[in-house]
Amino acid sequence: YNLTVLISGNGSNLQALIDACASGALPNTRITHVISNRQKAFGRERARNASIPDSYHNLVQYKKKHPQTPEGIEAARKEYDADLANIILASKPRPDLIVCAGWMHIVTPSFLTPIADAGIKIINLHPALPGEFAGAGAIERAWKAGQEEGLKRTGVMIHEVIAEVDAGDAIVTKEVELRKDESLDKLETRIHGVEHGLIVEGTKKTLEGIGAARAK
Ligand code: GRF
Repeated sequence: YNLTVLISGNGSNLQALIDACASGALPNTRITHVISNRQKAFGRERARNASIPDSYHNLVQYKKKHPQTPEGIEAARKEYDADLANIILASKPRPDLIVCAGWMHIVTPSFLTPIADAGIKIINLHPALPGEFAGAGAIERAWKAGQEEGLKRTGVMIHEVIAEVDAGDAIVTKEVELRKDESLDKLETRIHGVEHGLIVEGTKKTLEGIGAARAK
């Protein structure tokens, strides 16, 4: 199977996928393209070190072509998303699956529709449980709820990507207990550790489903 991985930052989840392909944890699977929406994302370095083609898809150049008004920014995002879909659909080989691994860009139907029409699934890692702490800063919000409201646990999920943010059907989830007086740093480290296992498990499960559907 061919994977395209979308990243925005450190790429530790990308690294988990790279390692899983190398170790056979993801059988006959390779990452054929890494796309970042941040030029300096360290994950791009990780791709290069693994001889994986990487590209930077730059939203700023789209915004420059439109007025700095809400309508202009919306038009820029639509073009950006449509081109992102075209880049992926034009890639050789085409991916069987797109994995959003720390991808901090809300995709719109301009991206989702052409990808869905091409029969390509998209999954996303989100460091919270279904229906909880959608959007950015999920770990910190959960940590605060633990310290201030006595929330007992948070978690991590891999879910199908739909237009609504962090709201697609969960593929795999894992709870993470919240500990009184634990620093945010320590919680983040524990959660990232869970992410690295879950992103492989969620990708494996999704690919098995794709394989089964094709075998019919
Ligand atoms: C995840 O918690 C993700 O939601 C957030 O950063 C972590 C992924 O980082 N954006 P990485 O780039 O995979 O290391």
